[in-house]
Amino acid sequence: MRTQVGIIGAGPAGLLLSHLLHLRGIESVVLEMRSREQIESTIRAGVLEQGTMDTLTEAGVGARMKAEGALHHGFELAFEGKRRRIDLTELTGKAITVYAQHEVLKDLVAARVAADGTLFFGVKNTAIHGIDTDAPSISFEHDGEQHTLHCDYVIGCDGSQGVSRAAIPAALRQDYERVFPFGWFGILVEAPPSSDELIYARHDRGFALVSTRSPNVQRMYFQCDPKDSVDNWSDDRIWAEMHARVDSEEGHQVVEGKIFQKNIVGMRSFVSTTMQHGRLFLAGDAAHIVPPTGAKGLNLAVADVRVLTAALVAFYKENRTDLLDGYSETALRRIWRAEHFSYWMTCMMHRLDDATPFERRLQVAELEHVTTSRAAAMAMAENYVGAVAV
Ligand code: FAD
Ligand code: DHB
Repeated sequence: MRTQVGIIGAGPAGLLLSHLLHLRGIESVVLEMRSREQIESTIRAGVLEQGTMDTLTEAGVGARMKAEGALHHGFELAFEGKRRRIDLTELTGKAITVYAQHEVLKDLVAARVAADGTLFFGVKNTAIHGIDTDAPSISFEHDGEQHTLHCDYVIGCDGSQGVSRAAIPAALRQDYERVFPFGWFGILVEAPPSSDELIYARHDRGFALVSTRSPNVQRMYFQCDPKDSVDNWSDDRIWAEMHARVDSEEGHQVVEGKIFQKNIVGMRSFVSTTMQHGRLFLAGDAAHIVPPTGAKGLNLAVADVRVLTAALVAFYKENRTDLLDGYSETALRRIWRAEHFSYWMTCMMHRLDDATPFERRLQVAELEHVTTSRAAAMAMAENYVGAVAV
């Protein structure tokens, strides 16, 4: 089997790259370990930056996002019993859309299928060969048969647990990591929205976030021990915690409902450099992870793909390799900006068990600052909507 670009992973990065290349007349094949049903039902991120919305729209997969996603012009910061709004649109001229990642994936898979794109779901034993040569390949098993995909370039879009990153020789790789001693407990709830906009809450008991999915389904998170089990959390205990952390003295209350999904995710910051070696390029979570505070993970994957698409188009249409050569450096500028923002927001909003009372007051002082100084609010808003110059 032969194609121009071999893509490992059908997450947002792999599927979007495949579709953008197709729109520019470049062939690709996507190899995915999980089934279509699995990728289309795994609950993950929910916030799309304006740049992500624009890219999905340009790719022709923005119609449902526009119709069913919710455009938000601001969000609320809750602390010390009060709520203060960050007006994203007034500060930056931009907005965000709340639209679940698995819905983006459904739209992308449908677009690839409609365009007769080649996708293999349920592949096993993916292995990368010959990235130091002009003729790399990917071997894999599908439906019990062994295959080899020959290609010009291999793109590793296989997330944090994939095989691609390890194909770059360890001696050429530098990994940077910070593991946080807390996680997020996520719930899906059948209830009307608690608020018109997202609420990020800092409380001495820990962080909480109120987000949404639709007029009838809400997404909420609260900081927890990453080793905790969802079985330890009855619905009553969850609601008591959410009320304690989010309800305001001004009378706003979280609206309760039937909880139909619970999960716990760990939190870390991670960047692996370089993102390229020979004929292999990494995009998205395969090369970097952010803690979810600030909602950058999915958006960064899309930003990598934008840079990589332009570089591959320059190669195939103009026989230029300069953009491919500069891929890692270009992508890393945005990645480090997002890493810093996510880390900063995580540290400002979460309870650290070993923080002194002095450090806890500093968190509140910083929240007072970003909600009263226009300059500080603008810096936060620019980062949140992804509009900072990099
Ligand atoms: P992924 O979406 O991870 O896609 C990689 C794909 O590659 C997967 O489908 C995987 O099955 C496949 N794959 C892996 N190994 C192989 C292999 N060897 N062969 C073939 N295929 C392979 N971000 C936020 O902003 N907010 C959130 O609330 C949030 N929640 C998250 C919750 C979880 C549990 C996780 C894991 C991530 C979350 N993220 C969140 C991050 C966000 O979802 C990711 O940044 C985003 O999915 C990155 O897209 P990607 O395409 O790079 O990787
Ligand atoms: C959601 C996730 C985030 O990480 C975030 O910062 C905001 C919203 C969500 O899943 O809705």
